[in-house]
Amino acid sequence: MSLPPRVKLVDVGPRDGLQNEKAPVPAQAKIDLVHRLQDAGLREIEVTSFVSPKWVPQMADAAEVMAGLQRRPGVRYAVLTPNLKGFEAALPCRPDEIVVFGAASEAFSQKNINCSIAESIERFAPVVQAARAHGIKVRGAISTTVGCPYEGEIAPARVELVARLMKEIGVQHVGVADTIGVGTPRKVQAAMEAALRHYPLDEVSGHFHDTYGQALANTYACLEMGVWQFDTSVAGLGGCPYAKGATGNVATEDVVYLLHGLGIETGIDLDALVDAGAAISGVLGRKPNSRVATAILNKRAG
Ligand code: HMG
Ligand code: MG
Repeated sequence: MSLPPRVKLVDVGPRDGLQNEKAPVPAQAKIDLVHRLQDAGLREIEVTSFVSPKWVPQMADAAEVMAGLQRRPGVRYAVLTPNLKGFEAALPCRPDEIVVFGAASEAFSQKNINCSIAESIERFAPVVQAARAHGIKVRGAISTTVGCPYEGEIAPARVELVARLMKEIGVQHVGVADTIGVGTPRKVQAAMEAALRHYPLDEVSGHFHDTYGQALANTYACLEMGVWQFDTSVAGLGGCPYAKGATGNVATEDVVYLLHGLGIETGIDLDALVDAGAAISGVLGRKPNSRVATAILNKRAG
């Protein structure tokens, strides 16, 4: 199959990227990051999570961040809502999309959202129903689709099961996540194929953490399958608090460079994106975790 001519990237930096930061990041810095990302041409941004502040203290300012956004027409703003309480808190903030998040591994489900896979589906069902009644799109994230920090390798059949359960409760799109970045191209393709048994090509996306440096290769492997939507994180920010040692998502800068090099359209201005990554990295007191950003910043300095 030929590669897709156009790819949509969802920058999850403000949410997945920042949720694991130990020191509090000011709400204004999160808002500025979203603004810089939309200025760089991102058309979908995962802004925050309406989760328990005891579990993820960094996301406690979810409503404040959403309220501070200067929304741009044509940009979609997504938030995570694990249960009805989270959905009810998110609703007044007018998200364009909500994300329920489950896992292909029982142990990860327990650690991350404190319930079994079956219980999570029961919890998600009324959230999906309420969101759709309000005309809000529902995405489902499936964590640990190739490997789990507690259970090891995960069979594609487990991914297929969760994709089927999500489909049955009305989840409209599924994201296939390699939470701990252990996947390699064939394994990630098998996980994606499992999701594609229940969802069309236009309603699946890849979400690859880059812990083992395989995320770009995994992205390319999915492009070869025709997948054209991916979650990425500016400056490679992030990690999941319940996946110890897992590093951030593949850097948006690196994926944009790859895609543009392949002649694939993204609508993203790489220079402005590098500026966005440098700005938030400055707030965090470190350098961007992106090879492309580093190369471009070095070139500018030289
Ligand atoms: P629980 O403790 O089982 O929930 O947590 P509960 O219903 O028993 O409630 C316990 C307390 O939490 C109560 O408060 C509730 O009010 C409160 P208390 O009476 O003790 O004061 N509570 C909430 N507060 C605010 N917002 C809410 C909410 N729900 C309950 N929505 C829960 C269950 C899911 C809430 C909890 O486990 C949680 O918040 N987990 C967060 C997990 C998380 O955010 N993980 C990171 C995001 S997922 C991820 O990164 C993976 C992804 O990137 C894909 C990938 O890479 O794999 C998406
Ligand atoms: Mg993630």
